[in-house]
Amino acid sequence: MIDTVGRVLVIVPTYNERENLPMIAGRVRAAVPEAHLLVVDDNSPDGTGRVADELAAADDHVHVLHREAKQGLGAAYIAAFRWGLAEGFDVLVEMDADGSHQPEELPKLLQALEQGADLAIGSRWVPGGRVVNWPGRREFLSRGANIYTRVMLGLPVRDATAGFRAYRAATLEKVGLADVQSQGYCFQVDLTLRTARNGLRIVEVPITFVERQVGRSKMGRDIVTEAFWRVTVWGVKGLPRRLRRGRA
Ligand code: GDD
Ligand code: MN
Repeated sequence: MIDTVGRVLVIVPTYNERENLPMIAGRVRAAVPEAHLLVVDDNSPDGTGRVADELAAADDHVHVLHREAKQGLGAAYIAAFRWGLAEGFDVLVEMDADGSHQPEELPKLLQALEQGADLAIGSRWVPGGRVVNWPGRREFLSRGANIYTRVMLGLPVRDATAGFRAYRAATLEKVGLADVQSQGYCFQVDLTLRTARNGLRIVEVPITFVERQVGRSKMGRDIVTEAFWRVTVWGVKGLPRRLRRGRA
């Protein structure tokens, strides 16, 4: 894999994932042994950061970025991307810590990059994609959010909020991270939009998303509200450009 896509960094953001982290770290290391793992912890009250330090002390392919406080998924990923780019990784992968994204499906995402994608999205909402054990209201919210996003932004993507993806380093360098303001999960939509607007190639790979068995989701009303107003603003601001070009 290293010879085809280059050095891979798998980034796992954590907030109160003490019980999940050893499970996910072990599965990542087994599924893609050459890849490095970076845990980005926002000073989790449950001690996830200490668990991460222990994993890093025992394995030279595991690293930890400690942040002072919970500042949202977007801020955590931007800090992690900066770290990964500075360390010279060629591919930066995003993945949840709770087992919803299966490390065993990572090679499929990397293959999509190998075949020319600039961003590979592990997608629940393309043919072959599935969700397991997701509460009906979460599925409704995710499908609704994706329809709204597609209408407002004209993105050629079925799962724009997906949190399982592989970026080429060059993609992140081209889209630029300096002015990203999204704090919560709309960070995913934000970067999808930037990638599309830069004319880069986005490929969706079907995945099976499995609801967590341990711990709790950090999704709250604030995250939904931020996503809704930001997508609306991006949509309105992008309208003249869409009308000119007839697409995103
Ligand atoms: N460092 C850090 N800081 N990590 C965070 C934060 C934060 O503020 N908020 C959440 N996380 C971590 C969690 O610990 C977990 O590893 C991952 O981000 C995803 O959080 P969940 O709370 O499990 O998300 P979810 O299952 O409700 O949402 C899923 O669907 C969303 C919408 O499609 C995820 O796959 C999201 O990535 C996705 O956007
Ligand atoms: Mn989750």
